[in-house]
Amino acid sequence: YKVTWDASSAEKEGFEHFTLKEIYEQPKCVEETVSRRLDNDDYINLDGIKISKKDIENINKIYIIACGTAYHAGLVGKYAIEKILKIPVVTEVASEFRYSDPIVDENTLFIAVSQSGETLDTLAALREAKRKGARILSVVNVVGSSVARESDDVFYTWAGPEIGVASTKAYTTQLAAFYLLSLYMGKVSEKISDDEYFKILNELKTMPNKVKETLDSSEVSKQLAAEQFNNESVFFMGRGLDVYTAYEGSLKFKEISYVNSFAIPAGELKHGTIALIEKNTLVIAIANQENLFQKILSNIKEVKARGAYVVAIAQEGHKEIEKVADKVIWIPKTLDLLTPILGIIPLQLFAYYVSLAKGNDVDKPRNLAKSVTVE
Ligand code: G6P
Repeated sequence: YKVTWDASSAEKEGFEHFTLKEIYEQPKCVEETVSRRLDNDDYINLDGIKISKKDIENINKIYIIACGTAYHAGLVGKYAIEKILKIPVVTEVASEFRYSDPIVDENTLFIAVSQSGETLDTLAALREAKRKGARILSVVNVVGSSVARESDDVFYTWAGPEIGVASTKAYTTQLAAFYLLSLYMGKVSEKISDDEYFKILNELKTMPNKVKETLDSSEVSKQLAAEQFNNESVFFMGRGLDVYTAYEGSLKFKEISYVNSFAIPAGELKHGTIALIEKNTLVIAIANQENLFQKILSNIKEVKARGAYVVAIAQEGHKEIEKVADKVIWIPKTLDLLTPILGIIPLQLFAYYVSLAKGNDVDKPRNLAKSVTVE
């Protein structure tokens, strides 16, 4: 594959920051990631990726290894692959994997996820897995990068150059890549029915428009930032796939807003975190999973009872949540499996506007580097 990135994509095109421009490029980038892999709009084509039906059938374990935002994409990837392919997947941060003497052999598929393809820990983990005989597939944005060159197969994300240190469009395209990969492997190995395959694929094709719709309601995130930018901490919670949206939303806050933030699976509230909730603590509750909706509502009630100010993110139509949360940010209705692509958008915007209100250097936050090539 060859990509040509024109000079104009390296400029801000009227946006105040690269970060904001990149947030707004997401409909186009997700479209690019998906459409390049579709034949006649119906079948996924992994041209250039050599992994065969037999290789896929021989896999008995998958590791997904990455750092930072790419790690969060890998957590969603684990969920999608396990659901569709029914093979156990372990997602781990690269710096832990490389020193853990991992159980890897020829039947292991090792998936590295990296925007830059140059993160040292990810590269070292890849080499370790390769040494132990694993097949290496990488999900990478930068063409010809070290991770790409050292992999057996590369799934490029086609997000274009990402300049803002906080990763945004690379993340949503990594998610799209994982949905495509799991559908492809599920179909090839006959683990997914045609009905289910087309149901997910057809919905995936609507994502660019739904991301755009989500961006169209940016005013809500902007207003929230204006009201809440002085908060000393923000706390995220979710269940199921929403845990990963919570992790990624929290990371955006740390990175560009310098707000002390953390995220937990909401079921863990009672095991410690609830002790921190007091009057006006800002809690962001991600409530995009249909089967866990009542559960997260109970968690919202628990923090509300201790005085928290709760902002919920939910799929349109779930009116019930308006009665328990102080504010609701709606995302368009979709399959629960695909909600991570939409759920992160308001959180990227919220972190961006808080960063802006605080006068931080949004594109180049203090102490951080776009690509970490040292240990
Ligand atoms: C740095 C960046 C993050 C990124 C992480 C992994 O910490 O600031 O935005 O998620 O590295 O980078 P990679 O290029 O491997 O995805």
